[in-house]
Amino acid sequence: MKEARILIVDDEDISRENLGHILNKEGHSVVSVDRGIEALKKLEDTEFDLVLTDLKMKQVDGMEVLTRTKEQYPDTEVIIITAYATVATAIEAMRKGAYNYIPKPYKMDQVRLVVKRALEKKKLKDELRTLKRDYKARVGSPLIIGKSRKMQEINEMLAQIAPTDCSVLIFGETGTGKELIARAMHHQSNRAAARFLAFNCGAFTEELLANELFGHERGAYSGATSTKIGLLEAARGGTVFLDEIGDMPPSMQVKLLRVIEGRSLLRVGGTQSIAIDIRVIAATNKDLDQEVEAGRFRKDLFYRLNVVSLDLPLLAERKDDIPLLAHHFRRRYAKALEKTIEDISDEAMDILVNHEYPGNIRELENIIERAVALCNRGVILPKHLPQGLEKLCFTVYRHSRDHLPTLEENELEYVRWVLKRVNGNKTRAAEILGIDRVSLWRKLKRWGLTENAEG
Ligand SMILES: Nc1ncnc2c1ncn2[C@@H]1O[C@H](COP(=O)(O)OP(=O)(O)OP(=O)(O)O)[C@@H](O)[C@H]1O
Ligand SMILES: [Mg+2]
Repeated sequence: MKEARILIVDDEDISRENLGHILNKEGHSVVSVDRGIEALKKLEDTEFDLVLTDLKMKQVDGMEVLTRTKEQYPDTEVIIITAYATVATAIEAMRKGAYNYIPKPYKMDQVRLVVKRALEKKKLKDELRTLKRDYKARVGSPLIIGKSRKMQEINEMLAQIAPTDCSVLIFGETGTGKELIARAMHHQSNRAAARFLAFNCGAFTEELLANELFGHERGAYSGATSTKIGLLEAARGGTVFLDEIGDMPPSMQVKLLRVIEGRSLLRVGGTQSIAIDIRVIAATNKDLDQEVEAGRFRKDLFYRLNVVSLDLPLLAERKDDIPLLAHHFRRRYAKALEKTIEDISDEAMDILVNHEYPGNIRELENIIERAVALCNRGVILPKHLPQGLEKLCFTVYRHSRDHLPTLEENELEYVRWVLKRVNGNKTRAAEILGIDRVSLWRKLKRWGLTENAEG
């Protein structure tokens, strides 16, 4: 077993030295003290795996060492060793969480064995905690969909900077996934087991901002009837996501900078500085360089936050990801609405891929949510998509930016689309197209579509 940290508490010199000798020989690192009060001090400074304590000592006795250890460091195991063993004290010790109770005089082997077992238990507990933390981190982590080159770059950056604990500034238009990326960064960091708290800096007046971020002391102002812990304090050990940082009023920017640099804050109305331990991830859809230039955003805060920056692309700049995202949202909303919706038709997907998405991924998500709601079962079709989207399809239908369609190609697509809408009824189609049936038939023949068009 790997070296363990053991604290021995005994007021009798010989007994203490003996025990220390045995455990040192086992390869453990041992600290010995002769008074209970000393033991409590040591416990505050160092993390121990195991405490071996005598029972009868002046001032702070072994029972108190046991109680305090279990209260403050529940994972640390405690063994009581005593020359005054009684059934009553043994029961009390076990009830208070002692691992074992050894009466003096003891045999060396007995102590070795009990210590070994106690340390094994401690190790198991530690492992379990690590497993739980990893599990929690994995389960809570959001799924980032996207295989486009831009998304791959972002994922690589994410993996690289997540564990570093440095401040990050995320730029991106509305709905590009700023919060999602910030959450993922938290989950891939060493802070994953602690909290991720998101805060919208644009949604509050200055006074409320201070109140929410820093908290207040009781009586800080009329109405402050109790102490309030602010967000920056509550996120201890975790990550704070400051959304729309570009909208934070300048006077708050100064205060925030001071807190981040000093790693401590004063609650509103408070005089005592409180240490904070957070990672800050900020986001904005404004051009902060420009805001700095215009004097609306403080340069020093900008540099403090912008240790690393991430630029999220528009959805229109990574159209390859649209099918993946669309299916991802289809599955999510079909499950949420308890519907069986297995696919998105090619026509519907073409329309989706060619739309421009001013609202980015959130807009796509909303479109799919709506389509799933309108579609009863089976496949999402163009008719389940919002009207405005459909119109677009004839100008850029099926064609990438590199290949702009000819008039004829466009005509072909449009005629096919109309035929589909009217279930192949050529008379209806010709009416809609504003040509006679014979002209339509000729076109179809030229395109080799006469067979298909019959149905
Ligand atoms: N790569 C992605 N994979 C899966 N879902 C995504 C992805 N990016 C964004 N989303 C989803 O799109 C929606 C919008 O993302 P998010 O809220 O993170 O955007 P935002 O940039 O913070 O937007 P806003 O500026 O409007 O606050 C969310 O529901 C999010 O889960
Ligand atoms: Mg957001």
